Amino acid sequence: MDALIALTTRVSPAALDAPGPSANALQTILEAAVAAPDHGRMRPWRFILIEGTAREKFGALLAESLQRRDPAAPAGKLEAERKKALRAPLIVVVAAQVQAEAKVPEIEQLVAVGAAAQNMLVAAHALGFGGFWRTGAIAYDPAMKRALGLAETDAIIGFLYLGTTKTPGPPRHNDASSVTRRWVG
Ligand SMILES: Cc1cc2nc3c(=O)[nH]c(=O)nc-3n(C[C@H](O)[C@H](O)[C@H](O)COP(=O)(O)O)c2cc1C
Repeated sequence: MDALIALTTRVSPAALDAPGPSANALQTILEAAVAAPDHGRMRPWRFILIEGTAREKFGALLAESLQRRDPAAPAGKLEAERKKALRAPLIVVVAAQVQAEAKVPEIEQLVAVGAAAQNMLVAAHALGFGGFWRTGAIAYDPAMKRALGLAETDAIIGFLYLGTTKTPGPPRHNDASSVTRRWVG
């Protein structure tokens, strides 16, 4: 798919299904990720792939995290949280290994990883796959970071759910005019 078409037509699907990206497609998606602009070439991004039965373990983490935050959560809510892990055949945890003492400000390291995540969504779309970006409280849960093998100082930028679009998301009206102005001094 043409790059501009991919950039302007990407929308988050409402529902995903199998199959996920093939090994080749995933490689391309990851190459697109690490092609993101990155001040100082610090390569702050880390990617953790969760597929197959590992999604069930991830689902258990989601439910445990919710229970810690809301000990009174009913069983149905915990089950719904657990099932979120099965919304896609592949989940990519996009994390930033931020270096606090570096010359490049932390926010710029985080933004680079955000750009990598966006590159992945657009690359997946260009290859015919759907993807959506999620965070929520679990992205900031130290226990979740530990379980994923991340340090507490790492930031989870997002969980990218990737697969085949089952239900398309609502189309978006891409109008930049209301948020753009020309500065004339
Ligand atoms: C950093 C980040 C975190 C997000 N986290 C969530 C989330 O937890 N839940 C959610 O419904 N949407 C979340 N979104 C927004 C969706 O991924 C999506 O972009 C939004 O629903 C707009 O749909 P579109 O991508 O089709 O324009 C997040 C977006 C970003 C950039």
